[in-house]
Amino acid sequence: MIEIKILVGSTLGSTEYVAEAAQSLIEEAGYDTQLCLDPDLNEMSLQCDQIWVICIATHGAGNYPDNFKPFVDQLIQVNTALSDLRYAIIGTGDSTYDYFCGASKNIDLLLEEMGATNITDRFEIDVDHYPIPEDRISFWIPLFIDALDPDNN
Ligand SMILES: Cc1cc2nc3c(=O)[nH]c(=O)nc-3n(C[C@H](O)[C@H](O)[C@H](O)COP(=O)(O)O)c2cc1C
Repeated sequence: MIEIKILVGSTLGSTEYVAEAAQSLIEEAGYDTQLCLDPDLNEMSLQCDQIWVICIATHGAGNYPDNFKPFVDQLIQVNTALSDLRYAIIGTGDSTYDYFCGASKNIDLLLEEMGATNITDRFEIDVDHYPIPEDRISFWIPLFIDALDPDNN
């Protein structure tokens, strides 16, 4: 069975909890997962079918978290179509900032431009309304699992 990589972009740590909650529920649904707290493209093959779940916060003014920026630079530099990649994005952000969930929007756009396929709508969690963002994950997981395996519907 295909392994689902859960890639984390976090500065202050709360999005790691979101990623761990997603990992636990995806594994409960019967899928193998790998949590990548410091994503590194050199440790991934882009030549085989794969699924990424990207859990990413926004910092600065709509910027990527520090631990995720080098990964974005690697993606921009690798001159390869990501046609074997399917992905889903969970963004955490705060709507009191000007660029709400800017990083999750930007990585979605980049992966789409590189030929990858987004399998569900981007899921954005507003910590201004949901101060414990991982509590929102159980709402999203069934949508993700259905999108992973539409034949089961
Ligand atoms: C200095 C700072 C800047 C932030 N800038 C933004 C922003 O531009 N857009 C946004 O949606 N959220 C912004 N946020 C909110 C964070 O994305 C939110 O608190 C998120 O849960 C942090 O995740 P983390 O703990 O994994 O780093 C900012 C938070 C801080 C502390």
